[in-house]
Amino acid sequence: MNCATCHSNVETFELYVFDEVTFPSGATVSFGEGEPANTCINCHQGRSSTGSVDRALGDLGDDEIADNLRFQNIHYFAAGATLFGTEVKGAYEFAGNEYLGRNEHVGAFDDCTECHDTHALEVEVAECADCHENVETAADLRLIREGEVDYDGDGDVTEGIAGEIDTMTEMLYTAMQEYSTSVGADLIVYDSHSYPYFFNDAGESYSTWTPTLLRAAYNYQYVQKDPGAFAHNGQYMIQVLYDTLAALNADVSGMTRPQISADGG
Ligand code: HEC
Ligand code: HEC
Ligand code: HEC
Ligand code: HEC
Repeated sequence: MNCATCHSNVETFELYVFDEVTFPSGATVSFGEGEPANTCINCHQGRSSTGSVDRALGDLGDDEIADNLRFQNIHYFAAGATLFGTEVKGAYEFAGNEYLGRNEHVGAFDDCTECHDTHALEVEVAECADCHENVETAADLRLIREGEVDYDGDGDVTEGIAGEIDTMTEMLYTAMQEYSTSVGADLIVYDSHSYPYFFNDAGESYSTWTPTLLRAAYNYQYVQKDPGAFAHNGQYMIQVLYDTLAALNADVSGMTRPQISADGG
């Protein structure tokens, strides 16, 4: 990336300063006045939100197949949207449910430039190891977990929070396929490498959307495009996956939806 993208002066390396950043939902958030991490969320915010999905759906019934619907795409690496959770509503949030806000990870590691090396962009793995004992390499980051809540209901409370998210994401794909045929729409197939990502089983762009399926596809793509979601705001991501599965009538009885604490955080 060009130095001048972030530095207003490439001799003194002064940074462009942002006090706050507005997200696609219209919400404005900040890591603190002039914090360098505000630079990152100018780009890492996605391009859509709960609101843009709702606007596209209008007042169609949940299971109504409508040929004028098009897939809504978050775009890649919306890490900032995940981190701020319901404050910016980058994932699709279901009406009537409450969601976690900004990830309150320990203070010294709660923004982009604290966990990532600003220039190499890699995670500062050695720093994580100070508190997360089993971490030695970058691959081990996916083993981090706190507590023993079996979110995905697979009986394994030793896998990382990343593993809980992976299982629920796989279940979401299965549930989308089952739902699509159960309402008489085409079987839905995902291809992460080809635009527009969702196809029917003849390989044509998917065109038999219902509102429920479009919301689910939006969140499925959301998780795919934030591979660091487990660290950016894992519990928020699990809430979103849980609610999406429930909306598809998948069996969530063995799963646990992360709670919102009394102070809302
Ligand atoms: C994505 C944004 C971004 C880009 C692109 C970027 N920098 Fe930086 N740079 C920062 C931030 C943020 C800091 C503040 C210190 C920190 O958080 O690491 C910084 C700090 C610096 C510093 C001060 C010393 C230090 O390392 O802290 C130098 C020198 C520097 N950058 C050089 C460069 C050069 C040379 C390039 C182009 C090859 C570049 N930067 C590209 C974001 C960026
Ligand atoms: C001008 C827009 C912009 C800014 C500002 C920006 N990024 Fe990015 N970043 C991108 C894009 C676009 C990509 C994807 C690049 C690609 O796929 O080749 C990316 C990729 C990344 C990656 C993945 C790198 C990889 O090789 O997999 C990380 C991590 C990242 N950015 C962190 C940051 C952090 C931390 C900051 C703030 C210091 C920041 N970015 C600022 C646009 C930006
Ligand atoms: C608590 C520490 C933490 C914070 C805060 C954090 N990240 Fe991450 N980020 C991670 C971890 C861990 C990964 C996964 C890395 C891996 O699996 O190798 C990751 C992955 C990513 C990726 C995907 C990289 C890839 O190639 O797969 C991007 C992009 C990214 N982060 C950007 C950001 C931005 C932008 C912010 C600020 C909004 C941010 N991160 C805040 C820890 C953090
Ligand atoms: C000073 C100690 C400390 C450091 C350093 C630290 N963490 Fe944490 N981390 C915690 C604590 C405590 C929790 C549980 C409560 C919370 O989320 O704040 C946690 C939670 C997490 C979780 C969520 C686990 C779950 O089950 O939901 C992830 C992922 C995580 N940390 C990743 C990282 C990464 C990546 C780094 C390095 C960039 C890092 N942590 C550095 C103390 C730390």
